[in-house]
Amino acid sequence: MTIKINDTAPNFVANTSQGSIDFYNYIGEGWAILFSHPKNFTPVCTTELGALQKLLPEFTKRGVKVIGLSVDAIGNHDQWLNDIKETQGARPEYPLIADEDRKVSTLYDMINENASDTMTVRTVYVIGPDKKVKLKMDYPASAGRNFNEILRVVDSLQLTYKHKVATPANWKVGDDLILTAAVTDAEATHKYISFTKYKPYLRTIKYTQVQGHDN
Ligand code: BEZ
Repeated sequence: MTIKINDTAPNFVANTSQGSIDFYNYIGEGWAILFSHPKNFTPVCTTELGALQKLLPEFTKRGVKVIGLSVDAIGNHDQWLNDIKETQGARPEYPLIADEDRKVSTLYDMINENASDTMTVRTVYVIGPDKKVKLKMDYPASAGRNFNEILRVVDSLQLTYKHKVATPANWKVGDDLILTAAVTDAEATHKYISFTKYKPYLRTIKYTQVQGHDN
């Protein structure tokens, strides 16, 4: 099964390092990151899981629940989490799915037979409060992910979930925002008082103009 942006993220129940978890119950009404990594006790994965733990307070602040997955056995996870604490200085507090039967990784298309028919690739899903997939990305086993970038894109997704705006290349919180085509010039003037029109298709507003607005 291929899951694309805007598809509903399917629910599942899985064995994790923190017991059995019903995914939808775990997410609640908020946002979620479901990510896979190829294998426990491997170097890049070790650094990734430590790096993500260090950023966990930032995700929590944004109402994002994090859950990881590999096809390793449950008994494997605990020792490896200790290794991550020892080598990376942070023991992951988010649950790790032990997807031994590949039920969840198959459901979420995390195994790429062109790379390996036994291991998951580095897949990340960001899922919104409406349970729709907002972002999906795949990295190969050889490249560790940049979790600051995932945090940055969460900031963009959370803003565009509420407002008729888009974020330009390399955007970060505080930078100007792009008005989408769904907003007419008249609506933009009414709602935001002023905007900059570089081209009919390229109009921007200041970040401060959406602060304090619900939509
Ligand atoms: C790693 O995390 O270092 C890794 C995992 C699977 C294959 C190759 C590298």
